[in-house]
Amino acid sequence: MGKIAAAAKSGQPKTRSRKMAASPAVLVSALSKSYANVAEELAVFSDVSFSVAMGNSLAIVGESGSGKSTLLNLIGGLDYPSSGSVQVFSKQIETMNETELAAFRNTHIGFVFQYHHLLPDFSALENVALPALIAGRREEEAFADARGLLQDIELGDRADHRPGALSGGEQQRVAIARALVNKPGLVLMDEPTGNLDERTGRIVLSLARNLQRRHALTLIIVTHSPAVSAACNHCLRLAHGHAAARAK
Ligand SMILES: Nc1ncnc2c1ncn2[C@@H]1O[C@H](COP(=O)(O)OP(=O)(O)OP(=O)(O)O)[C@@H](O)[C@H]1O
Ligand SMILES: [Mg+2]
Repeated sequence: MGKIAAAAKSGQPKTRSRKMAASPAVLVSALSKSYANVAEELAVFSDVSFSVAMGNSLAIVGESGSGKSTLLNLIGGLDYPSSGSVQVFSKQIETMNETELAAFRNTHIGFVFQYHHLLPDFSALENVALPALIAGRREEEAFADARGLLQDIELGDRADHRPGALSGGEQQRVAIARALVNKPGLVLMDEPTGNLDERTGRIVLSLARNLQRRHALTLIIVTHSPAVSAACNHCLRLAHGHAAARAK
């Protein structure tokens, strides 16, 4: 490993824990989102407030259409709220511009979308390595990490497959590996085990939880699975436009 890469590696986690130990990883305050439809305004939710401590996990549950993906997009800075605010690692998300958001997401947030959004012309290995290359890491290191993650989720022998030559569940696992490759402080997962059978779902969940423990990773998982929400530290239920902490 080169000197610069080694310095960056050893420096990053310390900086994060020293600076951010006192504040929560995620702080959502009086968050509201509505869409302006042709006929009327559609209020998805209003006045949602909660926080997630560093290294903790939160499950977001609720019926289809209750606003789970919308909430996750607002936390990850993929959409702007109608009112209220989101802080991630003490940074105000809704006041950043697109360029600032892209850089912040690349380093601090791993996103696993409900529909995985893999790049069809790249292999599984390249898809996983891409965020690391964008972050400026050396090619050998990025590909070594990507290969390691694919092996962790039992896809080492599919590294050269393009997404079109992977099953739905395999594509979802590649998307999860991609979200983890930069060792982000926060991982947002939108129904990550939805397409997976029970055993593969357990492998994926245990990979995420191992990383959570090793790197003080904060996890927010949208899920319909009682097993996944039971495995999280906290659970938030969205219903009728409001959020409530829910006993697991
Ligand atoms: N761009 C948009 N314009 C207008 N309405 C939207 C838009 N995006 C989402 N909605 C509406 O907002 C509501 C919440 O959508 P969201 O995708 O957050 O639900 P969800 O809880 O993730 O559902 P699911 O479990 O089916 O994934 C839905 O009623 C949806 O139709
Ligand atoms: Mg959704």
